[in-house]
Amino acid sequence: MESSVAASPELPSVVDLEKQYLLQNYARFPLVLHRGKGCYVYDTAGNRYLDLIAGIGVNALGYSHPRLTRVIREQAGLLLHTSNLYYHEYQGPLAERVAKSSGLDRVFFSNSGAESMEGALKMVRSHGRKIDPAKYHVIALENSFHGRTLGALSITGQEKYRRDFEPLVPGAHFVPRNDITALEQVVNEHTAGIVLELVQGEGGIFALTAEYARKARELADRYNALLVFDEIQCGVGRPGTYFAYQLFDPVVMPDVMVAAKPLACGIPLGVIAANERAAVSIGPGMHGSTFGGGPLACRVALEFFDILDPLLPKIVETGSYFRMRLTELAKRYGFIKEIRGVGLMIGVELDMPGKQIVLDAMAEGLLINCTHDTVIRMLPPYILTEQDVDRAITVLNRVFKKTKTT
Ligand SMILES: Cc1ncc(COP(=O)(O)O)c(C=O)c1O
Repeated sequence: MESSVAASPELPSVVDLEKQYLLQNYARFPLVLHRGKGCYVYDTAGNRYLDLIAGIGVNALGYSHPRLTRVIREQAGLLLHTSNLYYHEYQGPLAERVAKSSGLDRVFFSNSGAESMEGALKMVRSHGRKIDPAKYHVIALENSFHGRTLGALSITGQEKYRRDFEPLVPGAHFVPRNDITALEQVVNEHTAGIVLELVQGEGGIFALTAEYARKARELADRYNALLVFDEIQCGVGRPGTYFAYQLFDPVVMPDVMVAAKPLACGIPLGVIAANERAAVSIGPGMHGSTFGGGPLACRVALEFFDILDPLLPKIVETGSYFRMRLTELAKRYGFIKEIRGVGLMIGVELDMPGKQIVLDAMAEGLLINCTHDTVIRMLPPYILTEQDVDRAITVLNRVFKKTKTT
């Protein structure tokens, strides 16, 4: 992969410029990406990569989807931005689409996951405050990830993200996932909200049980707290349902749900959806966004929803096929501890660090990601086919074989 940077004579300065002028917060792989088509992305030297991380779960329809390209081109020539001072044609219809697909009542549009989480936390605060100023505590999970803003960080249950910025917003309490007793012990009348990532993504692809989600619902009702589901990584079609809470039978409804990543397939867009009980916590003037819910992002998201409806069963099928093929691989390689996930959200837990595997796969034309040191994470486009899976398995097999012998 070094070669793809070195072999891009027209762009030798991109990396140097970034080194000189960007905040040095990202540890990038040495790959300069140039264009994409379907599930494949190409670097500036023309090398092709099957992309199973897809912009960390954003590029749900892969690259250059013809229908998205068409509406983006058309909308760019009509109206890009209006602010929220005026109506445009697409925010209302998209709000209806999100409300109907989520089973919730009202929607607010933002620009990212963390910004959606901030809005949800404001709802939680305002809801609690109306009842009692001391009711501001938020229960969240250990190992969770909710974003990089101060509010979202304050409920992110990982010390490594929090420690440089403390003191954070007060009132956060962390409990281990799927531990019902711990949850019962911590929720009380001072709890304003319980925030759950139904499938922890950054944390290593760990799903919550239906029993745990139901208990959280019960406790939120008992103590008049809001139950918030963070579906930023696991939602909007990735589980094979619109949202991960719809995998439970019966469905466990949140009061508030936040989503973002795949919502407009690469155009920044986040959403907060709430039932009426939670929605009343935000009145006129209490929240807003200059860019949120602009015509381009909303129109693209509407187009995406149209494409997504018939794709949902395919996501389930391809996801199961992928896990089945990975399970076969796991039998061959003792360092694979577990295959996890729902739909097209897949984790492969190793008994060793996965960074070299990511690098070796990249050298073989496959983009995957490693989270929490030892979990290979894949969030492929929803248009992934079984042939793509077979190709990925062939590469992974080669990489794993090499790993075994080195
Ligand atoms: C579950 C979850 N919540 C929140 C966020 C933050 O989203 P963003 O990076 O768009 O601010 C992420 C991002 O990875 C996430 O996975």
